[in-house]
Amino acid sequence: MHRLMVKGVTKIFKIGSHSNHGVLSRTLSIISGKERRKKITVLQDVSFKVDAGECVGLIGSNGAGKSTLMRILADIYPKTSGQIRVNGNLVPLIGLGNGFLIRLTMRDNIYLMGSLFNMSRRKIQEDFRSMVEFAELEDYVDTKLFQFSEGMKQRLAFSIAVHSCPDILLLDEVFEVGDNKFRKKSSTKIKELVEGGVSVILISHELWMIEKHCERTIWLRNGRVYRDGRTKEIVDQYRNTN
Ligand SMILES: Nc1ncnc2c1ncn2[C@@H]1O[C@H](COP(=O)(O)OP(=O)(O)O)[C@@H](O)[C@H]1O
Ligand SMILES: [Mg+2]
Repeated sequence: MHRLMVKGVTKIFKIGSHSNHGVLSRTLSIISGKERRKKITVLQDVSFKVDAGECVGLIGSNGAGKSTLMRILADIYPKTSGQIRVNGNLVPLIGLGNGFLIRLTMRDNIYLMGSLFNMSRRKIQEDFRSMVEFAELEDYVDTKLFQFSEGMKQRLAFSIAVHSCPDILLLDEVFEVGDNKFRKKSSTKIKELVEGGVSVILISHELWMIEKHCERTIWLRNGRVYRDGRTKEIVDQYRNTN
């Protein structure tokens, strides 16, 4: 059985095209139902499958639709059409912020984020120390998150995610802010998880990370799967055309 099956997924966003008009005409157009909204197709007929223990790279230039695809897989955005089947605990780490509440302490955020990643209260309690230690944030347990740097938040998010027993881990540009030491540590952790059977989808502009971890890479271009195959060939081709 596949861990993840994506079949013919299409996403159309409707975006407002009345920004130059005044408030009155905008309101009238909404009330009259004649609001002019432009449709943009961000993903078109995207299909692929991911097996247990597979680490798949997802590359493509800015705006290709990578993050939208991750958000659809994580149930943050609805898809317009197509099918998605997820077998197991899917844990998404998408972009900066990652859903933390910056007015709460790190302790509270660990409970919040842990439960969003399907950890039980007991499991969070058991793993609390280990999560804090992995993120190297022992001195900040009762500090509010607005006092954290982006790197600290990212380390925390990654640490909670890897403790949450994911079956499928979605990593969207999470290494772009961290320092080299944490990148190496995370890299070792990803290897460990994949060897243990976790499926990972890795979006990164750090192509070395993709080359290191992923035997297979999917290249999204204008919302379509342009290539899906061996990382070495695809990343080489990607480098030559970007
Ligand atoms: N919530 C949204 N509403 C409208 N358009 C969006 C939204 N999110 C993303 N887009 C558009 O979808 C396209 C793909 O964006 P994204 O998935 O973020 O690409 P990538 O992660 O590959 O850089 C872009 O043109 C972006 O403007
Ligand atoms: Mg993105």
